[in-house]
Amino acid sequence: MKTYRVLVAGMGKRGMHHATTFNANRRFQVAGICDIDAARLDAAAPKLGNPAKGTDVAALAREVRPDVFCFCTLPNLRAPMIRAAIESGAKLIAFEKPVTLTSAELFTVRDLIRGAGAKAVVSHQHRYGAHYRKAKEIAASGALGRVHTVHGAATGWMVHMLSHLIDYTCWFNNYTPATWAMAQAAGRFKLADNHPSPDYIAGFVQFANGVRGIYECGAGAPDQPDVPRWWGKNRMGAQGTEGFVEVLTNGGWRAVTKSRGAESGEGVMNYENDMPPYIQEMADWLDDDAKVHSCNFEHACLGAEIMLALQRSAAEGGQVALPLTTGVDEQALLKAKLADRPVLVSFEQNRKEFGMP
Ligand SMILES: NC(=O)c1ccc[n+]([C@@H]2O[C@H](COP(=O)([O-])OP(=O)(O)OC[C@H]3O[C@@H](n4cnc5c(N)ncnc54)[C@H](O)[C@@H]3O)[C@@H](O)[C@H]2O)c1
Repeated sequence: MKTYRVLVAGMGKRGMHHATTFNANRRFQVAGICDIDAARLDAAAPKLGNPAKGTDVAALAREVRPDVFCFCTLPNLRAPMIRAAIESGAKLIAFEKPVTLTSAELFTVRDLIRGAGAKAVVSHQHRYGAHYRKAKEIAASGALGRVHTVHGAATGWMVHMLSHLIDYTCWFNNYTPATWAMAQAAGRFKLADNHPSPDYIAGFVQFANGVRGIYECGAGAPDQPDVPRWWGKNRMGAQGTEGFVEVLTNGGWRAVTKSRGAESGEGVMNYENDMPPYIQEMADWLDDDAKVHSCNFEHACLGAEIMLALQRSAAEGGQVALPLTTGVDEQALLKAKLADRPVLVSFEQNRKEFGMP
């Protein structure tokens, strides 16, 4: 069987997760690593079988000619990486959430990827957790009756967490496209973060099959007192006419349904468990066009449009129709329009974790 050559750009936390998982899978070989920080490259190389190194991703990609171009840079860097990936001739592009910070850039990268005919995946890998899969299994089993609502809440701020909430709940709703979104946002403190976000955003989504989406993210979101780890205080679920199911990122799952009664089980988000299947599905898709990756780019784009429509609504008011028809800079809109009043936190730990005075 073919071994796929991989280039990984961005050797920070997530780049190292990706590179070590690729190297541990016999279907892949890390052939090149890139970072603008040469010290990070030198530290990473011996752990990865001393692949080619470079600080200029386009030059390294021309040299390495990877099958898989993976980049794990901060959210501000997407389109230049996608261009380098396509120029290198890579068959699959793997990158980190969120897809993009703005709809203008989303349109650019989507046109590039579709135009090149490349496969692409976005790392919403929490879904491989046993507790997430159990929630999906119950939602798909019919035990909830007619599903009318999906919902997601996280205390972590928007650019870190909202795309996860939306992606997994869209999965529960079989990636039915949305027709509109509407939201409010509060607090400017995290606009200057490297994951630039309003401190709190909350909104509603209408899906084309009539299902209602309800999302909230940031310091105004509620505590999940049964989850100790702050970044794991995320609750996502589906409700129907005959019951509900929900998953907590670091707190297992629970369901109450008419036909099965009350059920619950364990589960915590764990990179070591979640990355191997995420990486393996890339080999499966490269081997066979019919084995489309669970985290495929087109599904991620549906969620990205919802996330960006919520932001546009928070900045400009009213409902925003989906799919989006124009690309704008939602970051600039939020910076221009968000009221200069501090967020009201829902519990004190949110203030501490945000680093707010
Ligand atoms: N899926 C998940 O569970 C998950 C978890 C954490 C973070 N993330 C996402 O992963 C992405 C990266 O986050 P991180 O925590 O690994 O960041 P990080 O800061 O640890 O790493 C980013 C790396 O990119 C490098 N870099 C910057 N510009 C570069 C360039 N032009 N060429 C090559 N390298 C460059 C930096 O030097 C740094 O080493 C973000 O989008 C973040 O939202 C996802």
